[in-house]
Amino acid sequence: MRVCVVGQGGREHAFAETLRRTAEVVVTPGNPGIEGSVATPPSQIDADLFVIGPEGPLADGLADRLRAEGRLVFGPGADGAALEGSKAWMKEVVSAAGIPTAAYQAFDSDPASRRQAHAYLETLAPPYVIKTSGLAAGKGVLVTDDLAEAHADVDAKLGGTAFGDAGRRIVIEEGLTGPEVSLFAVCDGRRAVLLPTAVRDYKRVGDGDIGPNTGGMGCVSPLADVDSRACAELASLAFGPTLAELNRRGVDYRGVLYAGFMLTPTGPRLLEFNVRFGDPEAQVTLPRVQGDLAELLAGAAAGEAAERIDVSDDAMVCVVCAAEGYPNDPRAGDLITGLDHARAMTGVTVFCAGVGLPDDASAPPGSLVTAGGRVLNVCGRGPDVATARDRAYEAVRRIGWPGMTYRTDIAAAVPPLVDRRP
Ligand code: AMP
Ligand code: GLY
Repeated sequence: MRVCVVGQGGREHAFAETLRRTAEVVVTPGNPGIEGSVATPPSQIDADLFVIGPEGPLADGLADRLRAEGRLVFGPGADGAALEGSKAWMKEVVSAAGIPTAAYQAFDSDPASRRQAHAYLETLAPPYVIKTSGLAAGKGVLVTDDLAEAHADVDAKLGGTAFGDAGRRIVIEEGLTGPEVSLFAVCDGRRAVLLPTAVRDYKRVGDGDIGPNTGGMGCVSPLADVDSRACAELASLAFGPTLAELNRRGVDYRGVLYAGFMLTPTGPRLLEFNVRFGDPEAQVTLPRVQGDLAELLAGAAAGEAAERIDVSDDAMVCVVCAAEGYPNDPRAGDLITGLDHARAMTGVTVFCAGVGLPDDASAPPGSLVTAGGRVLNVCGRGPDVATARDRAYEAVRRIGWPGMTYRTDIAAAVPPLVDRRP
């Protein structure tokens, strides 16, 4: 089978490497660190299966356009992708499906609605949670104990200054506390088949879960506090009811559904749905999928997912190495050293996310430079989390560039989620 992966980050690198076990793989546009990257647009690529990695093209209808040309596509159409592209719609679907989720109200930028947003904030207790309804690269959520900051954020988002049009509609939610956990299911339109392993992402930029939200600074799977039975219980709470509700609304959802939960003192709550694999969660999950990933995704894309998916029970830890200035203003163009030295280690895989080729002709052949916020995803794998973590951090220590940053507490413990003020 020939598979075309659409996207250009570490998630797509992990897709490509895992699919390549059984299939021929091309990645568009990919990046200079991913073998098989081509600049050709997807519609001009001859492939038996298209796997779309990021939410942007999904929300933009790429899966619909490829299907209209008769291609087999793993990834939802624009209708299903609105689960991520419109948090207001997602909350409505989830509430209609009877899934436990934070209380909320949605507001838009007209003056009456804006006043109601400020009034609703006043009825809530901290932490205050304000989300752009539209896509904001994982950075559109403010969680704060400071009411004045929350009011200012409402104005910045609705006024269009913070996130452009993505913020002109917002969701304000009841603030919850507790550890978070992410689960992934492969959907074939009617059924959702769980990848039976829990993943925890470290979303904030700094150690101790301090500072602004990012796309994710690292992750670990499996989790000591969410065993396979807990995974199955969470999955049955969210995935089946959502697919049924989508079906009622005429949505044929074929692709990954990513459920983010918070385990609160009064039970689990669904925080978010994403319509694609997590990045970097895919990097610690896909390599552990047993069997033929290409067959699995092609089956789901064709409307016939496998009965079950097996994931090996060893552990993976991913540490994201980011450029100086991430997430606000990452610096580009720094020469990356030590990649081969890190990759030579047992149980280590390094996926390339924000990398480019050097302008400087004197750079050693095969060199890569930084070209994005999250640059490399350094993954350790081992029989347990402690081993996987040691391997990941040993590999990180072999890699460098000026200003490279990373969190030192990935997989160290359940992240503290109580006081997040910087
Ligand atoms: P989301 O993109 O909706 O997952 O939100 C990003 C992050 O914001 C989550 O991973 C949580 O850490 C935090 N968050 C989202 N919703 C809430 C909530 N209702 N209460 C507390 N924290 C939240
Ligand atoms: N790592 C979080 C996400 O992919 O949304």
